[in-house]
Amino acid sequence: MKPVPLSETSIQSGMDRYKNVFTFHIYPSVASTNDTARDMAAAGQAEGAVVLAERQTRGRGRQGRPFFSPEGTGIYMSLLLRPDPEQSRPELLTTAAAVAVAKAIEEVTGKQAGIKWVNDVFIDGKKVCGILTEGAFDGRAGKLAYAVVGIGVNVRPPENGFPGELAETAAGLSDGGDGDVRGRLIGKILEKYWGYYKALPEKAFYADYKERSILTGKPVTFQSGQETGQGMALDIDPDFALIVRDDKGHIRRLISGEARAKLA
Ligand code: BTN
Repeated sequence: MKPVPLSETSIQSGMDRYKNVFTFHIYPSVASTNDTARDMAAAGQAEGAVVLAERQTRGRGRQGRPFFSPEGTGIYMSLLLRPDPEQSRPELLTTAAAVAVAKAIEEVTGKQAGIKWVNDVFIDGKKVCGILTEGAFDGRAGKLAYAVVGIGVNVRPPENGFPGELAETAAGLSDGGDGDVRGRLIGKILEKYWGYYKALPEKAFYADYKERSILTGKPVTFQSGQETGQGMALDIDPDFALIVRDDKGHIRRLISGEARAKLA
């Protein structure tokens, strides 16, 4: 079955709330929806703009990695925000998105989603979603001038499979036989995200994040700033730091970086 093209109507049909909050900007192809949203922000575009593309030619992930973005098989979406000072917390903007995606996937597909600190969403041990939040800080106003929350979801496996090492680590959510799964997912993600964003300092999504954490209780390797190490992941604290007991027995609180479960 061919993918149903992205459209505002199909996205809004999956939403019960906040339909009027968003303006949709849907493109056949862009370099990166985050770049398009950033350019729109610089030109004065209001909060709530959602940039979507059927494909990206230079999709980006964290730490300068490319994000594989073939035509029609994924969600490549960037949401433009203009956060108030109390919402200007990039780690909360990102972790809220991970929970919104995980819960939307669960509702739409019935599958159980996990979250790998900080912001990857996994199904059955494979990554199905990554999130890249970018923005510009307005020092004088003491808040973000804007933030762009970029969400990439592998909805179907690409026709010729995932290239290179992605073949081992990435997966699609569906085999494509279930109609307009992309439209429904986008609607649910936006609706959930907006609920969290409006009350960001309350961190209402913390419990849902913590209970989906796939690293907790596992031996891990980690990198945070210049440091690398290994140990046991113990918990996610209320500021979304990963708590690790390192192999020297010290308790470490990682506020950013990457961690992965150590292979046995
Ligand atoms: C990661 O896995 O490291 C984050 C991936 C983020 C990908 C999304 S797709 C939409 C938006 N545009 C981009 O270029 N990147 C983000």
